[in-house]
Formats: sequence, C-alpha cells, structure tokens
Amino acid sequence: MKKLYGVIGDPIGHSMSPDMHNDAFKALGIDAHYQPFQIKSEELKMAVLGMKAIGLSGFNVTVPHKTAIMPLLDEIDPLAEAIGAVNTVVRKGNRFIGYNTDGEGFVHGLNEKYGRSVLDQHILLIGAGGAARAIYYTLSQQGAVRVDIANRTPEKAEQLKGRCPYPVETALLSLEEAEKKLGEYDIIIQTTSIGMSPNVDETPINMDNIRPDAFVSDIIYNPAETMIMKKAGIQGARVQNGLKMFVYQGALAFEKWTGILPDLKRMEKIVQNKLGGTSC
Ligand code: ATR
Repeated sequence: MKKLYGVIGDPIGHSMSPDMHNDAFKALGIDAHYQPFQIKSEELKMAVLGMKAIGLSGFNVTVPHKTAIMPLLDEIDPLAEAIGAVNTVVRKGNRFIGYNTDGEGFVHGLNEKYGRSVLDQHILLIGAGGAARAIYYTLSQQGAVRVDIANRTPEKAEQLKGRCPYPVETALLSLEEAEKKLGEYDIIIQTTSIGMSPNVDETPINMDNIRPDAFVSDIIYNPAETMIMKKAGIQGARVQNGLKMFVYQGALAFEKWTGILPDLKRMEKIVQNKLGGTSC
C-alpha cells in the first residue's frame, strides 16, 4: 500500500517540502506520497491523533507547531528535547517519535561548503532564537570547541548558553562587541530575521572588521544573497545562504523515514527551481 507522509504548519501553502520529498520518492522508486496539511494550533492535538489513526508513516512539523507538538508525541529524541523543538516525526509501530534535523542539516551543509569540519574553528553565532538554539546545541553536541553568541537581548543569549547540555566554550557578546571583535572569528553564522524581506538592506552587525579568510553562513535563503553576505563578500570572505540547511534538514528527515539518504544535489535542484534559480 502507498505510504503517506506530510508536513503540518500554518500557513503551509508555500512549503517547498512536498516537491522535494515527492521527487525523491519518485527517483528512488518508493511508493509513497508527501502531502502538506494546514493545521490550526487549536486543532493540533486532534490532527496528531488523526494522523496516527489513518496510518501516516511520518511527517515534518513547521511553524507554529514545532514546540507545541512535543507533549503530544510518544517519545522525543534527546537532541530535539534539548533544542525544545521537533521538525520531524517518525512512526515506529504505533508510536510517534520526535526528532530535530534543523541543526544537523545546517551543520552538514556548513561543513560541506566550508570544505572541512568546522568543529575546531572559532565560531560566532548571531542571534539567540529558535534557529540559533538548534544550531548551537547541534554544534555543541557534535563537539564544537568554541561558539560565541551575540544577541540584541543579552538574557536570551544567557539562557541559550545556560541550558546547553553539551560542553562548549562560549563567550556572550553584545552586537557592538561582536562588531569590534569580528576579526577573531573563522566562521560567522547569522540566524536572525534581519536581511529578510522587507528589511533586505539591513545587517545585524557591521562587517567592516571581518577577516578576508572568514566564512559567513546566513540561514536566510530568500533573498538568495542577504546584505550581510554582500558586505562579507566585498571584504573577501566566502559566503553561503540558508538553502543547504533547508534541503539537508529535509534529506535527513527522509533518511529517518526510509533509511535512505536521498540524492542531495537533486533535492537542491528541485528547491532552486522552485525559488527561480537561486543558488546555495
Ligand atoms: P527564529 O525561531 O527564526 O530563530 P526567533 O526565535 O523569533 O526566530 O529569534 C529571532 C532572533 O532574531 C533573535 O535572536 C532576535 O533577537 P532578540 O533575542 O533580541 O529578540 C533577533 N532579532 C530579530 N529582529 C532583530 C533586530 N531588529 N535587531 C537585532 N536582533 C533581532
């Protein structure tokens, strides 16, 4: 019987996940379909029960349900528990198990574009929201040595550091301090919404002090080149947008469901085409 997968969120109309996963099922000859479901917050509990009852084999979870779904699942993977958010649910028998592949997808894409593992590099993380949490905890879990955090609201950065269950050396900085010390970092990871439409001309920090051999990874992929990437590029730094993170979180979810890591280049192509030719 055809297996059914999906993604739940609200809104969900613009999700690129159905194209990405349905193409991967087709390419691998897997008899399955991936369907977007728009689920209102007040109907989340009913939706999870319904998905279990109709036999969904697994699904992705996106805004605004990533945290709210956690108490509704049968088991949560320790990394997802630490991050406090689930983006992938896998069915095992009659149990729904929650994982988070956002951070792992990001680190996978970063290592690839950087050309080697980033774990021994001096990393600056800008932002302390949900996306920063997934990235910081995953980097720490994988053994990153030094990840400093710069955030507008210091309490949020303190909380992020204080609740990290994995050992990592971290200094907390204001955005101004980060600007001054920018030359100390090999890798700068941008996780705030600054640079996204309509604020496409803004950067969270000034990039004047970046080293020409540094690397900037912005998790935004629309626009394909954010202002921070432009400014870093002018200083000679290498840059990357958030497209690989999006593609790889999906590919890792697919692997959890099927045991097969899909063709990453092919998945990237599907998403690039959907975005009108954007490169990773
Ligand atoms: P997400 O889940 O996408 O990470 P979030 O949890 O709302 O979103 O986090 C947004 C991040 O962007 C936070 O680090 C936020 O800084 P604060 O903790 O000070 O709120 C940061 N951010 C958003 N708008 C900002 C702005 N105008 N200037 C500086 N930082 C901003």
